Amino acid sequence: MADFKVVGVIGAGQMGSGIAQLAAVSGSDVFLLDKDAGALHTAKASISNSIQRFVSKGQLSKEVGIKAVARVNYTSNLEDLRSADIVIEAIVESEDVKKKLFAELDKIVKASAILASNTSSISITRLATATKRPQQVIGMHFMNPPPVMKLVEIIRGADTSDETFNATKTLAERFGKTVVCSRDYSGFIVNRILMPMINEAFHALYTGVATKEDIDAGMKLGTNQPMGPLELADFIGLDVCLSILKVLHAGLGDSKYAPCPLLVQYVDAGRVGRKQGIGVYSYHKSAKQSAR
Ligand code: 3HC
Repeated sequence: MADFKVVGVIGAGQMGSGIAQLAAVSGSDVFLLDKDAGALHTAKASISNSIQRFVSKGQLSKEVGIKAVARVNYTSNLEDLRSADIVIEAIVESEDVKKKLFAELDKIVKASAILASNTSSISITRLATATKRPQQVIGMHFMNPPPVMKLVEIIRGADTSDETFNATKTLAERFGKTVVCSRDYSGFIVNRILMPMINEAFHALYTGVATKEDIDAGMKLGTNQPMGPLELADFIGLDVCLSILKVLHAGLGDSKYAPCPLLVQYVDAGRVGRKQGIGVYSYHKSAKQSAR
C-alpha cells in the first residue's frame, strides 16, 4: 500500500491550501500547485497562520508545526507532481476543466499514483474516463475549513479498486479525519442532504416566512448547528451552492432540487457570499449587516 511520502495538491484556494496543510502536518512532502502566483502567496500565509493557531492552542507542537510549514512546496509547474503518490485536485467545479486536468496528470504522474478529486458533486466515474487508470481515481471530499472539520467523504467511482479505496481511507485517517463512504451519485451524502436544507432556507426567506436573522437563529439554536443555513451558504459561496443544486437537479431529476429563484438572483447580482464581501449578509463592515 502507498505510504504517501509525496502528496500533490492542485488549486491553492481555501480547500486546496487546507488539504495541503493536513498532508504536511501528517508528515508528507507536499507540492501545492496553482497557476496563479498570487493564490500561492495567499495560501502560504494562510497555512502558516492556521498551523500557528493549532500550535498556540497546544494542539500541535511547535516543532511539528515548523516542520509542516517547511514541507509545503509552492509551484505552478505540473511537472513538479511527477513524484507524487497521490494528487488531490481542488480546482474550479467544472467537469470539463477537471477532465482536462486529469488527462494531463495521467500522463505526468507515476503509474502507481492515485488521482483524487475534492469535487463536491461531479461524477467520479465520469472524471475517471479522462484517464487510463480509472481504478486509481477516487473522490476525496473535504469539508470547509479542511483543517478544522472532522469529516472526509470518500467516493468510489464505478471502477475504483479496493486497493485505491483502502489507501485513500488510510490517508484521510492519517489526516485525523473520520471517513464516510458514498457511492457515486449526485451530491454524494453530505451535499445531497445539506443543499436541500440551504435551498429551503432561501425559500423561507423568498416567501417571507421570516427574516434571514430569524431563519438562521431558528436553525442554529433550534437544531444546534454552528451556523444558520443562510450564513453557512454565504460561507460556502452562493455560487457553489447554486452549482451543486443544479447538479442534484440534473442528476437526480427531481424538482425538489430546483434552485430557489432568490438564490439564483443573488448569484446573478454577484452577491456570492463572504468571499465577495456580500451575499445574504454584508461583510463589508465590522458588524454583520443586512444585504437587502
Ligand atoms: N485553521 C485553524 N483553526 C481554525 C480555522 C483554520 N482555518 N478556522 C477556524 N479555526 C478554529 C479557531 O481557531 C477556533 O478555535 P477555538 O474554538 O479553539 O478557539 C475554532 O476553529 C472556531 O473558529 P472561530 O472562533 O474563528 O469561528 P467560529 O466559532 O465561527 O467557527 C467554523 C468557524 C469552524 C467555520 C464554524 O462556524 C463551523 O463549523 N461552521 C460550519 C462549517 C461547515 O458546516 N462546513 C461544512 C460546509 S459543507 C462543505 O464544505 C461541503 C462543500 O462541498 C460545500
